[in-house]
Amino acid sequence: MRLIDLFTAPDRHLILFGGKGGVGKTSIAASASVFTAKRGKRTLIISSDPAHSLQDIFEQPHIGSGKVERVKGIDNLYALEIDPKEVLHDYQHYLDEYPEYKLLLGDNFESFPGSNEGFGLLNIIRMYRYENYDRVIVDTAPTGHTLRLLSFPDFMKTSMMRLIRLRHALGSFAGKIANFFRRKKKDGEMPEKDPVELLEKIRQWAIEAREWLIKPETCFIIVMIPELLSIFETQRLIKELQHYNIQIGGLIVNKLFPSKTDCEFCRAKRLVQDQNLQIIHQKFAQFHPCEIPFLTTEVHGLDILDKLSQFWLHV
Ligand SMILES: Nc1ncnc2c1ncn2[C@@H]1O[C@H](COP(=O)(O)OP(=O)(O)OP(=O)(O)O)[C@@H](O)[C@H]1O
Ligand SMILES: [Mg+2]
Ligand SMILES: [Zn+2]
Repeated sequence: MRLIDLFTAPDRHLILFGGKGGVGKTSIAASASVFTAKRGKRTLIISSDPAHSLQDIFEQPHIGSGKVERVKGIDNLYALEIDPKEVLHDYQHYLDEYPEYKLLLGDNFESFPGSNEGFGLLNIIRMYRYENYDRVIVDTAPTGHTLRLLSFPDFMKTSMMRLIRLRHALGSFAGKIANFFRRKKKDGEMPEKDPVELLEKIRQWAIEAREWLIKPETCFIIVMIPELLSIFETQRLIKELQHYNIQIGGLIVNKLFPSKTDCEFCRAKRLVQDQNLQIIHQKFAQFHPCEIPFLTTEVHGLDILDKLSQFWLHV
């Protein structure tokens, strides 16, 4: 399937962009969102980058954290930035209320690898379910590390079993210990939620997120640059995505220096890139690598995003 088909076909809903830092994920995801919005598809672009990257790339400061905003100057385009740390903050709050859970899992969720970005991703998928968009484009960095969130339900299950066993072992004494540790609310009431119930709820979210990610209408586009380190990272990412049965929709090689030029520096750069491109086309042939040149302009604003989309969506 060609990349353009992913964005024009009626049955593709959730498209995630991932890859190593700085390779162009946000730029390319944003260009995709401009492309689909211009073709009349109600599009939501989400970024879990705490650096407010969407605000900058669309040059629209009203795009803020935690709320869907309309992108001005174009129809059908909506943007949402979420700070994964903020998402985690909610969960941390629950943790503080349930000391017995804390005893088992450590002080915070961050002790679970990949949880920080992972919770961002989980929340994205939960929110997406409630909104009605033709396309949801996600700019995030689910490297192998973040994708470990997908093993979160199993991790939760083990923790819950431990919690239940601990309660059985301690009998009614457990309740007294818990109450002793448990921070009282302002009005002196105990929190009414059962920690096991809460764990089960979070586990269900994680299971749902996993189900969304492996749906046939979901796919993942890998962005890379023609450098050895990016090749290694891409190899790991592909393995991880395949392990979780997440479809890979394509591969974009960004920031190519010109091949025909009088500039000595550019020629030398391109020579190295060409060697790596050869490896890329050999190793990743099945994902039909598509190339984007290094633009002379900085990537921000609707016009340049539109122009960028033409390089890889061939219009
Ligand atoms: N094809 C391109 N030509 C010129 N500049 C580009 C191109 N693609 C991206 N850039 C520039 O490279 C920088 C990094 O791009 P971008 O922010 O999209 O990468 P990213 O993968 O989202 O980075 P991060 O991992 O930090 O979120 C930006 O300054 C952007 O303007
Ligand atoms: Mg980015
Ligand atoms: Zn040059």
